[in-house]
Amino acid sequence: MPGVRPPGQARLLLGRLRPERGRLAVLALVLSVAMLLPIAGPLLLGEVVDRALEDSGAVAGLAFAYLAVTVGADLLALGVTWWSVEVAWRVGNRLRSDLLRHALGLDLAWHGEHSPGLLIERVDGDVDSVVRFASTAVVQLLGNAIMLVGVLVVATVIDWRVGLLLAASALAAGVLMARLRVAAVPAYDAEREASGRLYGDVEERLGGLEDLRANGAGPYAVHRLHELSARVWKATRRAALHGEGSFVAGASTFTLGTVGTLVIGVWLHRQGQISVGAILALFRFSQMIRTPVESIAEQMREAQKAFAGVDRTARLLATESAIVDAGTATLPAGALAVDLDRVSLAYEAGHDVLHDVDLHLAPGTSLGIVGRTGSGKTSLGRLLVRFWDASDGVVRVGGVDVRDVPLTELRRRVGVVTQDVELFRATVRDNLTMFGTYAARDDRLLAVLDDVGLTHWLRGLPRGLDTTIEGDAGLSAGEAQLVAFARVLLADPGLVVLDEATSRLDPDTEARVTAATQRVRHGRTVIVIAHRLATLDAVDEVLVLDHGRIVEHGPRAALATDPESRYGTLLRTASVPA
Ligand SMILES: Nc1ncnc2c1ncn2[C@@H]1O[C@H](COP(=O)(O)OP(=O)(O)OP(=O)(O)O)[C@@H](O)[C@H]1O
Ligand SMILES: [Mg+2]
Repeated sequence: MPGVRPPGQARLLLGRLRPERGRLAVLALVLSVAMLLPIAGPLLLGEVVDRALEDSGAVAGLAFAYLAVTVGADLLALGVTWWSVEVAWRVGNRLRSDLLRHALGLDLAWHGEHSPGLLIERVDGDVDSVVRFASTAVVQLLGNAIMLVGVLVVATVIDWRVGLLLAASALAAGVLMARLRVAAVPAYDAEREASGRLYGDVEERLGGLEDLRANGAGPYAVHRLHELSARVWKATRRAALHGEGSFVAGASTFTLGTVGTLVIGVWLHRQGQISVGAILALFRFSQMIRTPVESIAEQMREAQKAFAGVDRTARLLATESAIVDAGTATLPAGALAVDLDRVSLAYEAGHDVLHDVDLHLAPGTSLGIVGRTGSGKTSLGRLLVRFWDASDGVVRVGGVDVRDVPLTELRRRVGVVTQDVELFRATVRDNLTMFGTYAARDDRLLAVLDDVGLTHWLRGLPRGLDTTIEGDAGLSAGEAQLVAFARVLLADPGLVVLDEATSRLDPDTEARVTAATQRVRHGRTVIVIAHRLATLDAVDEVLVLDHGRIVEHGPRAALATDPESRYGTLLRTASVPA
């Protein structure tokens, strides 16, 4: 546990715990009762012993009270566990959804640097350790502390010397166990390291089995196995001795406490100060303090893990997106103009992938972008929806600087079909409406599917819009893109960017993409990033990118017939049969 924790951490947890205040108060109360109730057990037992010879009626009553106290305490403890787990999960889930929402809002550069695995570890693993700590460890720590203090107080009331002795032995045992545990850490590390080396070595030898056999190095490998196994055995023995050592040291300290309690108890009895029953009660108390102390020492380790988790979680929540969403401007209705003024983009400082790009598209124009792989076509599209911000220059959509438009507004009005679309294992309807995010009636769904030329495909599905598609697997790359295209159209954007799939499209899909581009043009500006020249047959203008620079831009018809133009050259070379 780091010594100084940033104040954000406490706020992080407390903020999410606040709605549970009432429940937590009741929980603490019930927990106190559940932990203090068992203390009555030894007192009742003592009474039973003292009255055993005199009054059998009272003994029966006491026995019943003992039963009620024990069972009652157990039931309460059960309730506390159930309730604390529920509260912890509620808080944990709140934290999970906050984390996930926050992470999803972070810029793509952050996501590029942090793997999905890491994100899962944060959102699930870390939160899980916090939840586990909050649901069990905190309750146990608190409960054990309450019980310990309760026992010590009651023992002190019976006789202060015994109380003092028990407190001293609990303290000594606790400190001793904690110290020895810390001292044992290197031994445990050494054990893990030794077994790691053993397995690594075995794996390597098995991997090189042929070479080993061919060179007759078998005996050497076996010798090495023995050697490493011996190291594992030694390390394991040391670690076990350390672990046992801490256990034995704790146990011995408690035994000393018990012996001392008995000695004092007998002495007090001889003096006529306490009864035999009281000796029995004190004896039980001296044993009862052991579990809480051991448990507290154990829970401290869980606490360390949980604090580390809270620390990482707080850091993730404190990460701010590089894309600042502070705009308030609105975009004009209808087709949107596109203006890029001397725009550069660098994913890493100093490495521009787009240089000084100037591009102006009137509303309603359709533009095809071509260029070699890595020339910056996808990057250009990303700027229009602010997946990335330009490192230089201004990007305007509909005449407004994209940084001045709220992200939700921008992404509603500018639709992007990415190169590798993600479809979900869900019905066609859910894939289109994003599980109801866009409220749309079926006739609208059918209309957009028709716009992208998927009507025929839909008719072939057994249950129409209700057919479950198996993610991207059940569809060709082109079909998946067309479904994504239809999804984008549902929001009725004023600008559409279609980043064509690089994987092979069959001629039929190619034709459908071309036709779709043609159809969705009404009232929209359309940019098609084309990997197939054929899909550009319907566009007004063509732009050629090379190494992040615009090297050609003009009306498609003119460029196609210009023998000097790059696009024209491309067209002619592409149409030459291979
Ligand atoms: N997220 C990223 N982080 C860092 N560099 C990137 C990132 N995305 C793209 N690049 C780099 O930027 C350059 C342009 O990539 P971009 O994806 O825009 O090319 P493209 O023209 O779309 O290529 P393709 O035809 O293969 O789709 C490439 O050098 C690429 O390696
Ligand atoms: Mg690309």
